[in-house]
Amino acid sequence: MRIAVLKESAPGETRVAATPETVKKIVGLGHSVTVQTGAGVAASAPDAQFKAAGAEISADAGIGDADLVLKVRRPTEAELGVMKASAGFCALLEPYGDRAIIDALAAKKIDALAMEFIPRISRAQSMDALSSQANLAGYRAVIEGAALYGRAFPMMMTAAGTVAAAKVFIMGVGVAGLQAIATARRLGAVVSATDVRPATKEQVASLGAKFVAVEDEEFKQAETAAGYAKPMSAEYQAKQAALVTEHIAKQDIVITTALIPGRAAPVLVTEAQAKSMRPGSVIVDLAVAQGGNCPLSKPDELVELGGVKIMGFTNLPARLGADASSLYAKNLLALLPLLTEKDGKGFAPHWDDEIIQGAMLARGGALVHPHFAPKSAA
Ligand code: NAI
Repeated sequence: MRIAVLKESAPGETRVAATPETVKKIVGLGHSVTVQTGAGVAASAPDAQFKAAGAEISADAGIGDADLVLKVRRPTEAELGVMKASAGFCALLEPYGDRAIIDALAAKKIDALAMEFIPRISRAQSMDALSSQANLAGYRAVIEGAALYGRAFPMMMTAAGTVAAAKVFIMGVGVAGLQAIATARRLGAVVSATDVRPATKEQVASLGAKFVAVEDEEFKQAETAAGYAKPMSAEYQAKQAALVTEHIAKQDIVITTALIPGRAAPVLVTEAQAKSMRPGSVIVDLAVAQGGNCPLSKPDELVELGGVKIMGFTNLPARLGADASSLYAKNLLALLPLLTEKDGKGFAPHWDDEIIQGAMLARGGALVHPHFAPKSAA
């Protein structure tokens, strides 16, 4: 099949959906790959490297003839306008974002896979783009927090006096939170963490951090079968807030990563709690694109309040463009066999496979994912 790799146009996006390494493998499987001019430059993969790996380079990536289009982010209207009907499209489609593009994908009869919906089963781990990107985001959140913090992370005993270790509190212990704990520990901070899913208690302890949460009956039931958090009751949130209020006031860095798929992010750090931190403290909000875990955070803007710095990052993986692209491109490469004819090289999604069924957003002119399909079809 003919595969097009597009250049991202979203502001600040540095990632690309293929790397010279994955292009080489895809070409080796008998497909042709056309990369849009300059698509990999921001991820340290110049056109010459793609060419050497066997790709063609062209100004429009041959999108009009492509059987499968690979991107990191949603398609633009212009891209959709030139794609042929029944082509495949794989990207992080932000399915719960603005509906217009999602509807346009379906109207154009594109077979669209949302990488966010790859099911979290062991067979699909190598395709799990949410995890590959969240892991890097968790690492980078700590690095960004450390850069904003005007003090050191590790304890240092010097002839001129002792520098205290930074206290870092991670709120939300999913993939990003776990990596943030590990990174902050490696930098020498004293780390604590909280989550509403009981399974995280042991994970936090195994990374050498302290677990802080109200562990009542609701907490014990707070995980869905898919491993995601459930929205918590107002009562639970109030109890948990009372517990963490005292804790936050003593922290130097708070990193929030709490998300509930398809819903606004829960508020975990109120304005009063933020103000209780000492001057020079830092809050890094990774949930800002979903409304934020702190009402003060603004997308990609540094807010300062009484000496406390609050930074909301909408796209931390793009700050590690080369690594984030490398992992995302490998996620797509792992998915490719499920999009290819069983006995050939044509584009033919395996509709009976639970991974394709889970990730397929639009097919043959209709939105087919259960969260979006009309009730009767779902
Ligand atoms: P996420 O990005 O949806 O959310 C981040 C974290 O925020 C979660 O741990 C969630 O419990 C927490 N959270 C939500 N509301 C909260 C609140 N009010 N207070 C505190 N914390 C709150 O989560 P992510 O990183 O996508 O992971 C979700 C689950 O999927 C985890 O159980 C993870 O271990 C699991 N997973 C399974 C995989 C597999 O089996 N292949 C691969 C990757 C993740």
